[in-house]
Amino acid sequence: MPSFKIQSAVGLLASFLVAEAAAGLCAKADTVERDVVVIGGGAAGAHAAVWLRDHGKTVALVEKKDTLGGHTAVYHDPATGTPINVGVQAWMEYKDTFDFVTRMGVSTNGSMHFAALTSQYVDFQTGRPVDGYVAPADAAKFAALQVYLDACEKYEDMLLPGFFKFPPPGQIPEDLLMPFGDFVAKHNISAAVPQLWQSTVQGVGDFMHVPTMYIMQASPAPMVRALLGKGAAAVPPSGSLHELYERVADFLGDDVQYSSQAVASTRTEADGVSVVVQSSVDDGKNCTIHAKRLLIAIEPTAANMAPFDLEPAESDVLNRLGYTTVYAGIVRHPALKVGTSYGNTLPGAAPADYTVYPLPAQVGRFDYLDMTSDMFSFTATIEDMVATGVANGSAQAPVEFPVFADHGMMHSRVSAEELRAGFIQRQLSLQGRRSTWYTGAAFTSAFSTVLWEYNNVLLPDVIKGI
Ligand SMILES: *[C@@H]1O[C@H](CO)[C@@H](O)[C@H](O)[C@H]1NC(C)=O
Ligand SMILES: *[C@@H]1O[C@H](CO)[C@@H](O)[C@H](O)[C@H]1NC(C)=O
Ligand SMILES: *[C@@H]1O[C@H](CO)[C@@H](O)[C@H](O)[C@H]1NC(C)=O
Ligand SMILES: *[C@@H]1O[C@H](CO)[C@@H](O)[C@H](O)[C@H]1NC(C)=O
Repeated sequence: MPSFKIQSAVGLLASFLVAEAAAGLCAKADTVERDVVVIGGGAAGAHAAVWLRDHGKTVALVEKKDTLGGHTAVYHDPATGTPINVGVQAWMEYKDTFDFVTRMGVSTNGSMHFAALTSQYVDFQTGRPVDGYVAPADAAKFAALQVYLDACEKYEDMLLPGFFKFPPPGQIPEDLLMPFGDFVAKHNISAAVPQLWQSTVQGVGDFMHVPTMYIMQASPAPMVRALLGKGAAAVPPSGSLHELYERVADFLGDDVQYSSQAVASTRTEADGVSVVVQSSVDDGKNCTIHAKRLLIAIEPTAANMAPFDLEPAESDVLNRLGYTTVYAGIVRHPALKVGTSYGNTLPGAAPADYTVYPLPAQVGRFDYLDMTSDMFSFTATIEDMVATGVANGSAQAPVEFPVFADHGMMHSRVSAEELRAGFIQRQLSLQGRRSTWYTGAAFTSAFSTVLWEYNNVLLPDVIKGI
């Protein structure tokens, strides 16, 4: 699959976004005063803005796109009108966090749609079927998932909804620090790994060498409880998770500045912050938001943090975080078979080695979406799959991407050595420094409900004294 096709699909998407009209916070004034300015309107930032308003604070939310919801995107199949969630697939039941959805007037009564698919195991490098690969039997898979869940639950308070109760260096359980491959061998749970990989862990990349605690963030207890039928994987009755963010947008109204990014700032301990925000529409109009507190709800990468003039003590912590870039999307091609899930599988995995997986850059799988006959989630070497007979039909048909989403930097982590040297404590010590707080997946797990509970714990500190 030539990458230029991906590039052009992204370009097309970007030009649609830029065409949207500007409105919001900076439309009326060049200078705005608020209690808290929130950067980023994904699951964490959008929830935080509502929480702050509900707790009597004034808020400004700065979002670079023209819509809220971040990785929660929806595509409406034009043939059937059916909404297809892209990226976030469901809200995993966690503590009382469904209350937020209910508070926004959206029901969590729906269930995630699991199509019953026939699995095909294909080496996406060559398009050849991996002959002889045998997936784990259900009984072994579920037993191993239960062992993994037991471990996640044993350490759950240390890891979720964030690292608030993470043990000091010297007291971190060895299970959390060991490479996940060692953890899998120690607990004899390789039968669980294909399921974890297909669900979320593929996004971590070289996950067998990553400290186990980060796998427990990427495939956390609430997700595994849902896989085992012990917790809900909820969606609204309409099926569209994005509905929530449409309600949040209505609620926040002109407190949101869309299509805009921070370009400069001053941050002080005593006098709060001011953030210069530039619009990507409106001829690059700028406005300045003065606030008592700044809440960063985007990935705190060096590029994203450039406008925030980090001190060495801050950048030294944030720049240690490693990430992998994750993409999600929908692909159309008539050669792909209805009712099929094509999983990217290494020939070395046959007949039953569940510890070897393709590394980035990789495509995880194609899943038939159980709707229009040629609509699949995601993409790879379709030409090769047709040539080898895995896919059936004309390789000449164009590959179409109705949706292609760049989820950016995900699955933040550091090495076990950094963890032993007190990294988590240093990361936590950034909270409140120079009137700045951090929410979002880089400080916890990337699941919406976990992010909301993380905010429930963090935000009382953010508003203390204002
Ligand atoms: C969702 O479930 C609750 C409780 O079971 C019920 O009261 C409510 O009417 C349901 N809402 C929808 C939209 O089905
Ligand atoms: C490991 O798990 C498999 C099932 O996945 C089981 O057949 C085997 O006996 C287990 N080995 C040990 C040493 O417990
Ligand atoms: C907005 O601010 C940026 C960074 O300070 C600056 O480069 C740009 O020229 C400003 N735009 C306008 C329209 O003043
Ligand atoms: C491929 O498609 C043809 C024509 O639609 C059909 O006869 C054949 O059985 C298909 N082969 C596979 C492997 O699906």
